[in-house]
This record gives sequence, structure tokens and C-alpha cells, in this order.
Amino acid sequence: MNNLHKHNFLVDQKNRSKRLNQTPKLIWFTGLSGSGKSTLGAAVEKKLFDLGYMTYSLDGDNIRMGIGNNLSFNAEDRAENIRRIAEVSKLMLDAGLVVCASFISPFKKDRQLVQSLVGKENYFEVFVNTPLEVCQTRDVKGLYAKAKKGEIKEFTGISSPYEPPVAPDVIIDTSKMSISEATNIILDKIKPKLS
Ligand code: ADX
Repeated sequence: MNNLHKHNFLVDQKNRSKRLNQTPKLIWFTGLSGSGKSTLGAAVEKKLFDLGYMTYSLDGDNIRMGIGNNLSFNAEDRAENIRRIAEVSKLMLDAGLVVCASFISPFKKDRQLVQSLVGKENYFEVFVNTPLEVCQTRDVKGLYAKAKKGEIKEFTGISSPYEPPVAPDVIIDTSKMSISEATNIILDKIKPKLS
């Protein structure tokens, strides 16, 4: 950080926000693998986009193929994964966007870092609280089966912990309602914060 000087540009977040006619926001979906985070994040983004908001989606598997491709799933690398995503999200908020970010983000301290990096007022947390048993039964990617056989180490919910959020803005259990119902619940809560 030595010898670095922050450059201030002539166009800032306020200018962009005004042009886009929206308040930037980071909608953070956290939950187990298979809980429905990505499906829900994509559905919320689509609905917001169709309503005229300028949006972007960030998602676990995709990010780990790019800016996180040198990271493992131990606690230290998960923290680094989330830190990078928080920095990317911060740039996107500065660009004026509404960002839907879906990451397991199992550790409280990592989610707190996201909140403090982007600012509490810009952060909206959705806890996708689908029970572990349901996620395991779904096992869309076949990863729970592999984890139980010991073929994947430090798998969240099996051999690595998930620390539930303390005060999420919304809690969704996708085994109790459809994606469309869950999307509407989130939209009702988030829309007033975007104008
Ligand atoms: S996080 O813990 O760092 O937030 P992230 O959301 O980026 O995780 O990536 C999760 C995705 O990686 C899962 O949906 C799953 O497909 C895959 N994955 C591979 N290994 C693991 C593991 N050990 N624990 C959890 N997810 C894993």
C-alpha cells in the first residue's frame, strides 16, 4: 500500500446512480451448496432487470473458474475468495449496479468483511436456509455423495461448518416455497431500497 495514491475521477457513483435512476445495492445470497442460492439469485436479477434496473450476477462456480481459480476450500482460501468478491462488488456498486451475489460464504467473519467493505447501507442479506437434508437429497452436482465418501475434503455441511447469519434481511427455505414465491418476497423487500 506504500507509494500508492488514490485517484479521484470526475464521474462518481452519484452521477452514475442518477443516470441509471437507481440506488446501487449488493444482494448477498448465502446458504449451503444445493440450497437454491444461484437459482434464486438469477431469478431475482431477471425480475429486477425486467423492471428496468441495471443488474449483474456474481456466482460461486463461475467466479471460482476465473478470479478465484487459484483458491481451495479451506477456511483461509474461502476468506480470500469472499474478499475478492467483496472488492469486485464494491466496484460494481461504484458503477451504480444492483448486484446479486450467490456464494456459500459459510463464515460469519467473511460476510462481516463484505458488509464493512461495501458499507452496511449497501448490503442486503438473503439467508437461503434450505435444510441440509434437502440439499443432500437434491445433490444436483453429485458433490454431497462424493463428500460423504471422502472424495471431497472440507465440504460445507459435511466436513466443514456453515455458520448461519445472525440478522439476515430475508430468510428463504426453498423446500417450503417455489422460486417464484421466494423471488416475490425478496422483490417486495428490496424494491423500496432501490429508488
Ligand atoms: S465459498 O465457501 O468460498 O463461498 P463458493 O460459493 O465460492 O464457496 O463455491 C461453492 C461451490 O463450489 C459449490 O456450489 C460447489 O459446486 C463447489 N465446491 C467444490 N468443493 C467444495 C467444498 N469443499 N465445499 C463447498 N463447495 C464446494
